[in-house]
Amino acid sequence: MTAVSQNNSFQPINLFEYEQLAKQHLSPMALDYYSSGAWDEVTLRDNRAAFERVKLQPRMLVDVSDRNLSTSILGQPLQLPLLIAPMAFQCLAHPDGEIATARAAASAGVGMVLSTMATKSIEEVADGCQNFQNSLQWFQLYIHKDRGLTRTLVEKADAAGYKALCLTVDAPVLGQRERDRHNEFALPLDLHLANLATISGLDISHEKGESGLFTYFAQQLNAAVTWSDLEWLQSISPLPLVLKGILRGDDAVRAVEYGAKAIVVSNHGGRQLDGAIASLDALTQIVTAVDDRAEVLLDGGIRRGTDILKALALGAKAVLIGRPILWGLAVAGQVGVAHVISLLQDELSIAMALSGCAKLQDIDSSLVKVSKHIE
Ligand code: FNR
Repeated sequence: MTAVSQNNSFQPINLFEYEQLAKQHLSPMALDYYSSGAWDEVTLRDNRAAFERVKLQPRMLVDVSDRNLSTSILGQPLQLPLLIAPMAFQCLAHPDGEIATARAAASAGVGMVLSTMATKSIEEVADGCQNFQNSLQWFQLYIHKDRGLTRTLVEKADAAGYKALCLTVDAPVLGQRERDRHNEFALPLDLHLANLATISGLDISHEKGESGLFTYFAQQLNAAVTWSDLEWLQSISPLPLVLKGILRGDDAVRAVEYGAKAIVVSNHGGRQLDGAIASLDALTQIVTAVDDRAEVLLDGGIRRGTDILKALALGAKAVLIGRPILWGLAVAGQVGVAHVISLLQDELSIAMALSGCAKLQDIDSSLVKVSKHIE
């Protein structure tokens, strides 16, 4: 792996060190936007604490000399049970933004979900990955009040070869992130909502006393979306539907009944409803409720290979990772993102070996003991 930090002799060897290093590469406003959670950030912290509450009971004397970390999601192969979570405004971290992230993901054989609020367009990101066979890219959708605009986004994603629509359901309004509010968060003049500005001239503008993103959500997104809108969405797109932001078993059952092919157990990285259950704590009830009728993924607080192992042991098929990708992007663009992914890959491989698992199918619930688990 190329040295990621050219002007600095310090080379990060884990994701927490990437976070520290990234602080030197980001404006205070971007760092606050990326790192913050909603209100008191209780859920943000609990996403991490939940992983620490789960303990491993490793199996000994198993041949783990050859390890296979590959899997498939919605029928598509992945080298690792990992996707990059949709995250807005990646050009705040690096000029190549979402294109660098997508290239790093595709070359490592992991998935990438492109945000509606990306600073590179659906087509630019797809074109940037043309050289990679079988790259798994999904498009994350926010349903706007303007249905025509929403339909155009969906059609563009399909035309550009994205493999699924990932509808985020935990953001009818934006959670209040108080640092963004103080900063009056707005995009620098040279950055735009690459998908929305071209179609309809929408952008994040400066607001007195408020985050420009909060105002954008209030004005443009449709807070009236309900389950029946999933029928509309599926009527305008052949792409499989993934619902992101489910935290209850009964919602997971409804998601399956309304046609979702996968569910992402997520609280949006603690950025929406503060006080919401840690995503790992919601996993077991959702896996049980879904009962293999859809694939269950999880995000929120994944920072170590052992976190991936724990999520898989509790029934997730794969995980998504958010902020550490932005830290890698800020430190060294595509190379930094690739390094973050490879650190996680190495850690997962070692954690599997130490737990007696040669392949992902060997990871089962007997490996984990939950000291304080919410059912
Ligand atoms: C996000 N997230 C997010 N989710 C989504 O559905 N659409 C989006 O545009 C964004 N944007 C976004 C920006 C930033 C800066 C962050 C940190 C997060 C949520 C994201 O997809 C994911 O759920 C969490 O980031 C996962 O938690 P960790 O890995 O960051 O702890």
